[in-house]
Amino acid sequence: MLDLAIRNAEIVTAADRIRAEIGIRDGRIVSIAEDVGDAKEEIDAAGLLALPGGIDAHVHLEQPQGGGVVMADGFESGTRSAAAGGNTTVMPFALQQKGQSLRDVVQAYHEAADGKCHVDTSFHLIITDPTPQVLGQELPALVKAGYTSFKVFMTYDDMVLNDAELLEVFDVARREKAMVMVHAEGYDAIRYMAKRLEEAGKTAPYYHAESRPQSVEREATHRAISHAELTDVPITIVHVSGRDPMEQIQWAKRRGMNVWAETCPQYIALTADDLKGLNMDFEGAKYVCSPPPRDSDSQKAIWEGLRDGTFDIFSSDHCPFRFEDAKGKDVEGARTSFRWVPNGIPGIETRMPILFSEGVSKGRIGLERFVALTATNPAKLFGLYPRKGSIAVGADADITLWDPEREVTISQNLMHHDCDYTPYEGLEVKGWPVRTILRGKTIFAEGEVMGARDAGVYLERGTSQAFGG
Ligand code: URP
Ligand code: ZN
Ligand code: ZN
Repeated sequence: MLDLAIRNAEIVTAADRIRAEIGIRDGRIVSIAEDVGDAKEEIDAAGLLALPGGIDAHVHLEQPQGGGVVMADGFESGTRSAAAGGNTTVMPFALQQKGQSLRDVVQAYHEAADGKCHVDTSFHLIITDPTPQVLGQELPALVKAGYTSFKVFMTYDDMVLNDAELLEVFDVARREKAMVMVHAEGYDAIRYMAKRLEEAGKTAPYYHAESRPQSVEREATHRAISHAELTDVPITIVHVSGRDPMEQIQWAKRRGMNVWAETCPQYIALTADDLKGLNMDFEGAKYVCSPPPRDSDSQKAIWEGLRDGTFDIFSSDHCPFRFEDAKGKDVEGARTSFRWVPNGIPGIETRMPILFSEGVSKGRIGLERFVALTATNPAKLFGLYPRKGSIAVGADADITLWDPEREVTISQNLMHHDCDYTPYEGLEVKGWPVRTILRGKTIFAEGEVMGARDAGVYLERGTSQAFGG
């Protein structure tokens, strides 16, 4: 006897769509057939799509910030919000601060996360201090233990790696078969721009966008690609914002290079004008993220890239700060320049609805592509496939039941995060998750998160398919 049968849904994978029933036992999909037989629990999913549970491969939770700022979401609230947004797996970053051993970092993140997650999780590492000990011993050991990806930064005071360090880190990634995610913005150019703007008295949040134009992202993207070519390692360029960096990625892909790319909701649903707030006031801080949202031509380019395969994955880059904290009310003199506004916006819950509505409902991408971008490709790129990322016999029964017709106006009072705003307030979307099923158990239904706060497990990962697996 099955534990659960899902009947009458249209099943969508990255490859096709079929009308069939899904049989689930012990947390796994055991049959997909016209009639899967009796089950202890049945769900009538008539009129709904059955999608692979979303995999959000770029999430920041409980990440130390400094400067008196604390992230709005920890693991409990962040994964609660993820479940409500149709996700069954999220991949937060475990950030190494300078001087820290990677082992201590991983242990601290597990202590913060274990037993507090509504969905399954798996950590990427962030390498900010690539000492010989880190590169020679800690990183290889952690990759072998299933931490098979890490991020490096080409900007931010406390995180930037210089070119020599990037090359060293890439070299370890090749040897150990780890996927490197690159934040591609040029540090010196941003510092130069920020100083110039501040000297001209241009300090409102909007000038955050002017301080890091596309040229800065384009140059760093090309530099990262060149380093990857030299070291012969696959890389993923994350949070790509517009046409200029995209052209570098397309150039690399055309040459057969092993370069992958991610974009995010902010680059299709926001523009730099949002950072102007109401008449250049602090309201614009609600949209400060890096790279910044661009313009309508960039949005058009991003859609072309989502269609033509320039982009492989679509992640939220959920990086939640409270607007009240961003104002710096506890900091003497408050925050006087865009430079002090924490970079990052929330979006874990709205990622899938925004791509579905703006993409599938508006006819810009097909359903299969939606599934590839939000679940199947992240699973393949980060070593979770075939356990995760598809609806197939043998896979975990991670399924999102989706109402393609439901119309919702996104609003803070619908959100399950602990942030005090959503940057997508007022956005009307068509298509909404109505039930999220994690390994056969319903964790969210009709607006309510009902799974236990320890429903999620930690996932050790295999090697990225970018290495040819
Ligand atoms: O502004 C952003 N994206 N903040 C999150 C950190 C990062 O660079 O991903
Ligand atoms: Zn980044
Ligand atoms: Zn990020």
